Amino acid sequence: MSIPRPAPIADPSCWDQRYREGGDGWELGQAAPPLAQFLRTHPLAPQSPGRVLVPGCGRGHEAALLEDLGFTAIGLDFSGEALREARRLHGEARATLQWLQADLFDRQALTEAGLPPGSLSGIVEHTCFCAIDPGLRQDYIATVCRLLAPGGWLLGLFWCHGRQGGPPWGSDPQLVEAQLRQAGLVAEIWQPATDSVDKRNDEWLGLWRQPGQPPAPVEIGSC
Ligand SMILES: C[S@@+](CC[C@H](N)C(=O)[O-])C[C@H]1O[C@@H](n2cnc3c(N)ncnc32)[C@H](O)[C@@H]1O
Repeated sequence: MSIPRPAPIADPSCWDQRYREGGDGWELGQAAPPLAQFLRTHPLAPQSPGRVLVPGCGRGHEAALLEDLGFTAIGLDFSGEALREARRLHGEARATLQWLQADLFDRQALTEAGLPPGSLSGIVEHTCFCAIDPGLRQDYIATVCRLLAPGGWLLGLFWCHGRQGGPPWGSDPQLVEAQLRQAGLVAEIWQPATDSVDKRNDEWLGLWRQPGQPPAPVEIGSC
């Protein structure tokens, strides 16, 4: 069952229109540099293989980066226009890069699309958390926790500006940390980001883990 959401940002057609009209001031034309730099160079960066979701993937730059790093990436967005752009830029769906048009909060749709509870190694957050209504943040975090397998990770770049209104809605770093901790995730990193693009120097980067051991890989030939 879907969770009722406030209009109009809860309406995919509102986002479709932004993509069509070029009202997409968040677009970087590349994966966010702090995430790319972290994934490519940081000693604590999650390692492939693994199945990783990018919620609110927009034009799909982070999903394409994850594929490049050896993960199986799933770019999810409820805007058909966003995914049309993602396909144009990064190619049609294939084994290692999938595009999924669905509402992140529609549990049944996610399960039917192959995202049941515990089905992901990781989730990469970039400007989805700041795009949804702040009243839905607990639902976002609950969704992350439900989808991650034991030992799964959340890598996120959070826009912690203090301005009124949104989207993009700002975040308080202490509150984000507390909300994720209370949901049971364990912080490995939570710090101001480096390498942010101009005008986003208030981003924070975090890596959290779901407690537990990741499932053992299945050996070919075992029964
Ligand atoms: C600010 S844009 C960011 C896009 C991309 N992450 C980027 O940084 O370029 C937010 C994206 O989240 C998507 N989105 C918002 N709410 C969503 C929801 N409930 N389910 C799926 N996608 C959603 C929008 O369609 C939009 O593409």
